Amino acid sequence: MGFNKSLLLAIVSLSSLFLSTHANIGALSPSQSQIPTIDTNILNLASNLIRRTFKASPEILEFCKGTENPTLCSETIAPHIQGPFDPIKALEVEMKATLNQSLKVTEFISDALANPNTDKRARGALSICKSQYKSIKGTIKEALELLEQQNVVDAYYKFSSVLSDQSTCEDAFAESPGVTIPFAEDSIGVLDLGGNCLAIMDGMVTSRVHSLLV
Ligand SMILES: *[C@@H]1O[C@H](CO)[C@@H](O)[C@H](O)[C@H]1NC(C)=O
Repeated sequence: MGFNKSLLLAIVSLSSLFLSTHANIGALSPSQSQIPTIDTNILNLASNLIRRTFKASPEILEFCKGTENPTLCSETIAPHIQGPFDPIKALEVEMKATLNQSLKVTEFISDALANPNTDKRARGALSICKSQYKSIKGTIKEALELLEQQNVVDAYYKFSSVLSDQSTCEDAFAESPGVTIPFAEDSIGVLDLGGNCLAIMDGMVTSRVHSLLV
């Protein structure tokens, strides 16, 4: 897509976003609909939209198409890709994003375990999560090494344990009466990013098998 077309698309999308948001405001509170206000939500949406429109190339959108979270996929990959599109490099970025998200959770767990005010009933689950996330980080690092050797097949098989470890951690909280997982959103982040990596590798492995068969 050319620059002018992208710009036009961004402007059209922004205008309709603006109009629809204001239509909603009008519907909800007629008394305030006359007052021109710039909602920070609109600004955030607008800057996200511009970022996406200008940075996610058609190759990245195509690459992320088969994942469960294509928007998250292209948003995490686009800022780290320069020059010609390389699918292995893009997968590496998504894996590193998953690793970063896992490091964030690990830090949360360490802080919670070190904090004397942490609910005693949560400590067992936190300890289980600590070891699950240690395993997740190790797995992702090994998968990244395999990727460096262009070995997507083994990286794929290795990586699947990231999702089972993530769910073991969540289960530990689900099975602890009286406590809920204190890093729910970050935990879902690991699931979403890790799921994207698996879907990308699944696509790569399947298309390679397919090309060997025909
Ligand atoms: C991961 O975190 C490091 C250190 O904060 C950062 O430099 C890097 O860009 C991040 N990578 C991704 C893919 O988000």
